[in-house]
Amino acid sequence: MAVLKVINYGEPVLRQEAEKVTKVSAKIQKLVADMFDTMYAYNGCGLAAPQVGELKRIFVLDCSTDENPMPQMVFINPVIVKRDGAIISREGCLSFPGVYTDVKRYGSVTVRYMDMKGKTQTMTAQEGTLLCRAIQHELDHLNGVLFVDHVIDRFTTDQLLSEHQLPPIEPEKMIEEPELDQALQGVAL
Ligand code: NI
Repeated sequence: MAVLKVINYGEPVLRQEAEKVTKVSAKIQKLVADMFDTMYAYNGCGLAAPQVGELKRIFVLDCSTDENPMPQMVFINPVIVKRDGAIISREGCLSFPGVYTDVKRYGSVTVRYMDMKGKTQTMTAQEGTLLCRAIQHELDHLNGVLFVDHVIDRFTTDQLLSEHQLPPIEPEKMIEEPELDQALQGVAL
């Protein structure tokens, strides 16, 4: 087990697409254990493999809070099979130390994935929960998508990025989300 280096925004690997995992080998088991060590060492609640330089479709989560203890979770080859509603989510990312900003997300999602035993599982994360937002955030990492691509206020976020010595938003990466924009109309910001 080891704490790995988390790669910061600006490094090209964070924009690359990760590869499917075909088998939960000993190597993958070690990577997952190291990802948990790394996530806890950095005080995160989620970490995706590309953030430690491994282009594999894996992310880990621990969405526990004092009021709501939850188990550690590992998602391999995850796919969102159902999405509903829209919310505004204040997010940060271990690859953007110190930066927190509001982004658009689906309200609830159903995700299909492989567990550590190689079995297919399906899980629905309920409306607006940390789990639901974290699944969307971490799954994006596997496709080279970052939370700032969903940002609501580009100007303020660019200021924050600059204050933390990180590169500005990449306008060509920003995602058009008409479905979310429509659902969010009338939501007080
Ligand atoms: Ni992240």
